[in-house]
Amino acid sequence: MGGYVDLHAHHLFALDDGAEDVTVAREMVNCVIELGFSRLYATPHQRSGMFLPGRDAIDEARATLNGALRIDGGPQLGLGFENFWDEIFLRRMQEGKIPSYDDGPAFLFEVTTQLMPSGIEDTLFNLRIQGKLPVMAHPERYVAIQKDVARAEAIGRSAALLVDLAAIDGAHGKAEMRTARLLLQGGLAHAAATDIHRPTDGPAIAAGIAWIQKHLGSDAVRTLLVENPLQILAGELPEPRQ
Ligand SMILES: [Fe+2]
Repeated sequence: MGGYVDLHAHHLFALDDGAEDVTVAREMVNCVIELGFSRLYATPHQRSGMFLPGRDAIDEARATLNGALRIDGGPQLGLGFENFWDEIFLRRMQEGKIPSYDDGPAFLFEVTTQLMPSGIEDTLFNLRIQGKLPVMAHPERYVAIQKDVARAEAIGRSAALLVDLAAIDGAHGKAEMRTARLLLQGGLAHAAATDIHRPTDGPAIAAGIAWIQKHLGSDAVRTLLVENPLQILAGELPEPRQ
């Protein structure tokens, strides 16, 4: 297959815990291309007190990497951001300025693993009726969802749930693996992505794709890695997978 769309990756270099320089960034891009991805989004972290690169630094890294990729004959990177649910995010939400994919309606977010923000379903619903599409990164990582996947179902009514491919094969831990598989088998996950941080993540990501292929079939691979990511970019919440 191939033609996959990656909505979560950290190949933009020297900005966060992803690629450290342009050489490593190129290796990471080549790695995901070999796995079948052809439309790539870079999603550097936006997390107060940890990784909060400014827009100028992000644009500069992207221009440099895209220049290198042009020489390689590779695809150009689209831009997204991984917004941590903190005071900066909440302020940006108030101002209607949440950094998003291609400055469009869909935006990626993550929350702290131990505690789901109170009232998150209502907040996501409000964003949705304003025409935004929240996209929750690695839902399998959050304790509230690990304990009760019904929580994912509630959140998934207003947000797309984007599972990390490497989690499916256990690279992020047992609870994450079990929950990722439950979300996929239950049709609750809307899409999957690499969340690549280093070139050595390739085999674990490949194993996640292979698991979907083996247990859910080729149609599910296409839905989760091509069709639904494209719908998400258009600001539409995909229908539950049957
Ligand atoms: Fe990430």
